[in-house]
Amino acid sequence: MAYILAIESSCDDTSASVINDNRILSNIIASQKIHQKYGGVVPELASRAHQQNIIPVVDTAIKEAGITKQDLSAIAFTRGPGLLGSLLVGVSFAKSLAMSLNIPLIDVNHLEAHVLAHFIKDSSETKFPEFPFLCLLVSGGNTQIILVRSPYDMEIIGKTIDDAAGETYDKVAKILSLPYPGGPHIDRLAKEGNINALKIAESHIPNYDYSFSGVKTSILYTLRDHLKENPNYLEENLNDICASVQHRVVSMLLKKLEKAAKDLKVKDIAIAGGVSANSYLREKLIELGNKHHWGVFIPPFQYTTDNAAMVAIAGYYKFLKKDFASLDKTAYTR
Ligand code: KG4
Repeated sequence: MAYILAIESSCDDTSASVINDNRILSNIIASQKIHQKYGGVVPELASRAHQQNIIPVVDTAIKEAGITKQDLSAIAFTRGPGLLGSLLVGVSFAKSLAMSLNIPLIDVNHLEAHVLAHFIKDSSETKFPEFPFLCLLVSGGNTQIILVRSPYDMEIIGKTIDDAAGETYDKVAKILSLPYPGGPHIDRLAKEGNINALKIAESHIPNYDYSFSGVKTSILYTLRDHLKENPNYLEENLNDICASVQHRVVSMLLKKLEKAAKDLKVKDIAIAGGVSANSYLREKLIELGNKHHWGVFIPPFQYTTDNAAMVAIAGYYKFLKKDFASLDKTAYTR
């Protein structure tokens, strides 16, 4: 029986988790509010906040798991991709603690961890996707369709050629003067809006790739034209704008996922990453699954945004193979 401590510090959340085999015992997240007033993550401020947060967060994760440091079998850490200064805090901390306890280190890829979050056992009812399955990974920095053949074999079969889905939400939110991060605000306002109110350009990119940069340009031009005639256009139509943007982004996302799942004849589809918290995406994914009789896997909210629990499960799979990291492994940004 293994106890693994996992550390995640790739962006603006400091998180630590303890897993007992595939069962999560704790998942502590300290979010950094400081970036809100800048409308985006400020890397230098993020790494400083990680330095302040990491000891209390790790300490709480171990205590909440009901174990002591001496019970740990290994330490997993996010090696990348992410912000270099932020990652380095977690990487250095993980190395020092592993050295002092004389236990192995495990390096984890942040994106693979998002996908493997589907294998966290939360209760005896938890169902796991069957291999091979497709996972649509949608976050602030990435939009990818991943063919998952096993925890050790993942292939990116489609990706965005410009903005990520979360980035699109955040950029559109900025245009609409909504706070950062914009995704949850657009999600909320869209609930009261008409999805067909605005015509938003749809990109036509070959294969399973995406392009989202046209969405924000489309909104920019639409607003410019309407504001000339009605200076209150934005306030009066905010819900409709949000609903139309969201409908366009989600339908583009799912169109490619549907095509890939049909072509590859997979039986299960999943979503992961920060944007997988989106209520409309969740609703439409379930509809898609029902239409084709595919199994649909949606992560619990606490495993959608950056969290160490997903790093812990990814670390557990590497632990089973004794795939350990040497001390010279360092962070990477991309
Ligand atoms: O995975 P994540 O926490 O961070 C990384 O990018 O690594 O994802 C953050 C992204 C942001 O762009 C945020 O706006 C988006 O996820 N997001 C949402 C929702 N909640 C978070 N987008 C749409 N609807 C949501 N409910």
